[in-house]
Amino acid sequence: MIAGMKPSFQTAGRLEAVRYEIRGALARRARELEQQGNDVLHLNIGNPGAFGFRTPETMRRAVIRNLPFSEGYGPQAGIFPAREAVAMQFQARGLTDTRYDQVVVGNGVSELVDLTLRSLLEPEDEVLVPAPDYPLWTAAVVLNGGKAVHYQCRESDGFLPDVARIEEQITSKTRAIVVINPNNPTGAVYPEETLQALADLATRHDLIIFSDEIYDSICYEDARFVPMAPLAPETLCVSFGGLSKVYRACGWRVGWAVFTGALERAEDYMLAVEKLAALRLSANVPGQWAVQTALGGYQSIADLVGRDGRLFESRQAVIEACERSRFLELVKPMGAMYAFPSVRTEVFGDFDDHRFAAELLEHKHILIVPGSSFNIPERNHFRITLLPEAEQLTEAFERIDDLLEELADEPQRIRAVK
Ligand SMILES: Cc1ncc(COP(=O)(O)O)c(C=O)c1O
Repeated sequence: MIAGMKPSFQTAGRLEAVRYEIRGALARRARELEQQGNDVLHLNIGNPGAFGFRTPETMRRAVIRNLPFSEGYGPQAGIFPAREAVAMQFQARGLTDTRYDQVVVGNGVSELVDLTLRSLLEPEDEVLVPAPDYPLWTAAVVLNGGKAVHYQCRESDGFLPDVARIEEQITSKTRAIVVINPNNPTGAVYPEETLQALADLATRHDLIIFSDEIYDSICYEDARFVPMAPLAPETLCVSFGGLSKVYRACGWRVGWAVFTGALERAEDYMLAVEKLAALRLSANVPGQWAVQTALGGYQSIADLVGRDGRLFESRQAVIEACERSRFLELVKPMGAMYAFPSVRTEVFGDFDDHRFAAELLEHKHILIVPGSSFNIPERNHFRITLLPEAEQLTEAFERIDDLLEELADEPQRIRAVK
């Protein structure tokens, strides 16, 4: 503190446990570098619009046509056509009696993650969260007074959860389990047996399942997305989806949560979620008008993820670059829009992913997210998005490999500071 100055304004202590480095200090440094005239390749965020992907034209038209009907607040749980369209998607998934009133529409999945946890948690309640995770989940548990208990999805298991081990982590305070499938950051797509085992585990221990399925239609090669809800009829399953990724409309901020399974015991809980939704009045209305158009008819995402599609090609470029590298290993992403390579530690010894990311930004002008930002104990992974064109990614991995080559001679540059 400078003499004579008043102390800084206070910051809530609970934020100390919150990590969101995807847009954190490294991203701020990237902005500074850009302001100095450097080009920085941003591989840190899965923001389709930033890489030239467009929202399907039919959806844009649906919003434009309905703009005149979007000026007032909407209903707190979402407009009827959007809720009904999501309910119909769940009917098509085998839950034939799903009704619109089981669907809550929010300002992206992000808001609904917060609302559903805030409606649930008492202090010290535990929620099982995958590690690595999309860090919003851990943050939202902590900010709502709960404790995130991480279950490890190990690289050596193809980043799949080990259900027997998860069972050992359940205590009398465990309230819910989070499943992210297809997974961000690993790209793992869970087989039906794994999902069924998770559903059975949750049912046995009376846990709510929060199934984050925002990447549901982004699967590569023979990977197949299996929705959780039909596998868990006897406990409460809350499935999350939205327009951000599959429909490339993340700026519109539209997501949904669908409540299925043991609804007869979930009435109070669903009312609590709706009460919180009412406190924020309504979600953005214009984007909601595109939900029905998005979910019905031709699904343009299939062209992007199928063989020769843009996302398929970008993923291929990353797989091949990792195969060529003597430093990197990769579990092939089978879904979503990220790759989560690891650096072979035998070459570097004590590798520090944050220092590596900082070196890569300073010297090669590439912004990545260090793996430990996704709440894992290992410090030799990083996440990149598959959204740039294949050539850009090939070039980026050449620069990554150049840096690793330099660091192999000077490993002290990326050793953990003790
Ligand atoms: C797994 C996962 N869940 C939720 C979200 C947030 O999505 P939304 O844009 O709907 O808030 C993201 C965004 O990257 C994500 O990767």
